[in-house]
Amino acid sequence: MQLFIDTAEIAVLKDLAETGLVDGVTTNPSLIAKSGRPLIPTIAEICDLIPGPISAEVAAMDAPSMIKEGETLAAIASNVVVKLPLTFEGLKACAHFAGQGRMTNLTLCFSVTQALLAAKAGAAYVSPFVGRLEDQGADGIELLAEIRAVYDTYGYETEILAASVRSAAHVKAAALAGADCATLPPAVFRALVKHPLTDMGLEQFLRDWTGAGQSIL
Ligand code: E4P
Repeated sequence: MQLFIDTAEIAVLKDLAETGLVDGVTTNPSLIAKSGRPLIPTIAEICDLIPGPISAEVAAMDAPSMIKEGETLAAIASNVVVKLPLTFEGLKACAHFAGQGRMTNLTLCFSVTQALLAAKAGAAYVSPFVGRLEDQGADGIELLAEIRAVYDTYGYETEILAASVRSAAHVKAAALAGADCATLPPAVFRALVKHPLTDMGLEQFLRDWTGAGQSIL
């Protein structure tokens, strides 16, 4: 399973990239606004830092403008993935970029039918929003499993990118549901390695080792 980080904060990405476990990055207009930095140089820096897919989102609402914005974003670096909204205009732009062999990420996906259209339009990734669905009392993980079933039935190669992930439990459930990737807020990425028994076990080992008075080197 590929793990992406859902942030536009360069310092945070530098820190997490040192784990060697970050496969890519997703951004959106809200995350860019939160970073307080301009879009283009921020995406360029992220692309330099992490060699995997880096999603950069268009802001236009109509396909011709999305295509123009997407081309500007795609020119930043070869690992830019043009992120488009799951509307008919976004799907038209998606088909355009697919025809050019450019990767796209269809975002704000909340239904199987939207995911089906994304695959038919040639999207490289589709981003179902797990947390925002749960906020509305719907089952975001079930959506991932249903999209998996449909894609497998028809042999679609669009990758399922679990988004709006709020916890390590979401990551586990997304993995079990067959998501190809998940994009995680930094705190959720850090939480993946945490377990109280690991901490307790380490404390015990350290105590016993100190008591033994030995050294390895
Ligand atoms: C995905 O690409 C989005 O940037 C993100 O996961 C949205 O998550 P949120 O619901 O926490 O804003």
